[in-house]
Amino acid sequence: MVKKKCCVFISGKGTNLSALIKSTREYNFPVNINFIISSTLNAKGLNLAKKYSIKYHVYKINKKKELEIILNELKKRKISLICLAGYMKILPEEFINRFRGKIINIHPSLLPKYKGLNTFRRAIKNKEKLSGCSVHYVNKKLDSGKVILQKKVIISKNDTESSLKKKIQKEEYRAYSEAIRKVFSNTSS
Ligand code: GRF
Repeated sequence: MVKKKCCVFISGKGTNLSALIKSTREYNFPVNINFIISSTLNAKGLNLAKKYSIKYHVYKINKKKELEIILNELKKRKISLICLAGYMKILPEEFINRFRGKIINIHPSLLPKYKGLNTFRRAIKNKEKLSGCSVHYVNKKLDSGKVILQKKVIISKNDTESSLKKKIQKEEYRAYSEAIRKVFSNTSS
């Protein structure tokens, strides 16, 4: 099976990246991770790039020059899917336009509820009974693109921000890979 090439964007721990790397080892998984972009040199997730010998760059992509460099890198590497996994920068509109329909993100809430930050805190504060994660296409509006897949978790009375985060992240690790399979089963290319 010829796998598509994927680039993962990170800013932090990279636990989703780690789960994705595991999935890429499966014969039938539709993509390989060929490139990693981090918005900061301090992202722990970069250790995974080193461990698995995946090429990486540290770029914020907020300057015109950086944007051009990244676009060229992605083109050169024939990247056909971009996965945002805890990437904490807003992508320039030009970038989103160039990769329309090819950028996906994982977000820790059941979108359209709780876009943006502090999703766990807000869900608990609002006494929600359910929360979860969403994998969605990225468009110009924050956390607003078409949802590909969601996983739900039950919020119990005793849940704190950190226990809810743990529960949801556990689901994220399955959700992201499942969403990628779904994306490629739909395009069948
Ligand atoms: C995840 O919870 C994801 O939903 C959010 O950022 C977090 C990234 O965590 N967008 P990690 O860097 O994958 O550990």
